[in-house]
Amino acid sequence: MSDAARDLVYLAAAAAFIVGLKRLGSPRTARSGNLIASGAMLVAVVVTLLDLEILEWWALIAGLALGGAIGALLATRVQMTAMPQLVAAFNGFGGAASALVAGAEFIRLEDVTLPVETILTMILSVVIGSITLTGSFVAYAKLQGLISGSPVTYPGMRIVNGVLFGGAIVLIVWAQATQDGLAFWLAGGAALVLGVLAVNPIGGADMPVVIALLNSLSGIAAAMTGFVITNSALVISGALVGASGLILTKLMTEAMNRSLGNVLFGAFGAGSGGGPVESSEHGDATSTSADDVAIALTYAQQVVVVPGYGLAVAQAQHALRELMEELERRGVSVAYGIHPVAGRMPGHMNVLLAEADVPYDQLLDLDQTNAILPRTDVVLVIGANDVVNPSARDDSSSPIFGMPILEVDHAATVVVIKRSLSPGFAGLDNPLFYMDRTKMLFADAKKAMTDLVAAIERV
Ligand code: TAP
Repeated sequence: MSDAARDLVYLAAAAAFIVGLKRLGSPRTARSGNLIASGAMLVAVVVTLLDLEILEWWALIAGLALGGAIGALLATRVQMTAMPQLVAAFNGFGGAASALVAGAEFIRLEDVTLPVETILTMILSVVIGSITLTGSFVAYAKLQGLISGSPVTYPGMRIVNGVLFGGAIVLIVWAQATQDGLAFWLAGGAALVLGVLAVNPIGGADMPVVIALLNSLSGIAAAMTGFVITNSALVISGALVGASGLILTKLMTEAMNRSLGNVLFGAFGAGSGGGPVESSEHGDATSTSADDVAIALTYAQQVVVVPGYGLAVAQAQHALRELMEELERRGVSVAYGIHPVAGRMPGHMNVLLAEADVPYDQLLDLDQTNAILPRTDVVLVIGANDVVNPSARDDSSSPIFGMPILEVDHAATVVVIKRSLSPGFAGLDNPLFYMDRTKMLFADAKKAMTDLVAAIERV
């Protein structure tokens, strides 16, 4: 294959990656975006392998078949709630692949004096890839419950991490200046340890942000490897992953009103989930029954559902859709208000509701929802807590002050469905539960949905 033909394929693949990414921006086009981008990556990989004649045909096909089969098996078997750890594992393997390729190139070219940019990108690929590898697997182990999800801290931790980080920088500079093998491999080793020590102090519930950041790092490592092996398709795809992972990290931290520093070094969410609230300064909450809620729902003109983490835990999405379909049959207008950080991973609620075939045009973002809430008759808050906590808007002493919320307290009636008055991820009491207009339906979300469907049939 001529260089020009190969470069043209790479250019087309790069354009397809960008089109694919753009289409991921909406649930309606996300599936085709995924197919376009992964198809382009397949073409780029095949062209590279054929062009460089690295592999025999049979090895190429066997590798693609084996990798494809493992990927398909994992993707179809994984529970939606376990998706963050699957992504973490993929990131870890991506980082490892970049580090291994760059390391192999270093060994292959040991006796050649390398240009500055080659040795620098080689070592950065090994270092960033190694941090991604071990960091991602610590994140995986925390989310999978293999190790404690609590932030693990100890006195002097920041000093140890700082010294290790400083040492890694010195080793990078040394290896880059001298092409010394010992410095090169020591820098890689320090990076492996740093990945563990940097992620271990972060609470399990903050892992989605960490995973988005590690995803970005895996892209940067791949882009560096692209420079090492002079492959422009790898440079471009790595840069796209690096940039989009960083944008996602920024969006998530903004939606939580936290800085990246606070996520990485704040040991937040130590008491994730919190204990039950024994007493509240806001007075008593009013509990209600499925029959009363059913009456309010059937007489409403506009109902807005605000789903949260509890909906995912209870796997109540299908029962919820049934309930809403029943209301629509009775002429009630239904919409879903989606907060960007509801649940525990980006797009958690969108994925959950898409799984239950909720129509996309009923999903409203934060601003669209807040615009219709003042003329909403009943808002159903299902397993959500922090994302509807008015303290974030009204109480400047609250740790979540400034976090944008769904202003459900502007609706005529608020029904909150959860099992108790326990706090959510941020571990904070929620004044919403004690408002006059709020009724608490204490139940598991799935059970509440089935009870409500039955109760509506009796109305
Ligand atoms: P949370 O504030 O965490 O509240 C979830 C509520 O669900 C809990 O209060 C819990 O109350 C209830 N619940 C649990 N299991 C339930 C079940 N089976 N049935 C009914 N209710 C159940 O959730 P949220 O409002 O979705 O907010 C998300 C939080 O996670 C935010 O603080 C956000 O910053 C954080 N976070 C989000 C992300 C992303 S990317 N989404 C990443 C990291 C952190 P009971 O125990 O009383 O039932």
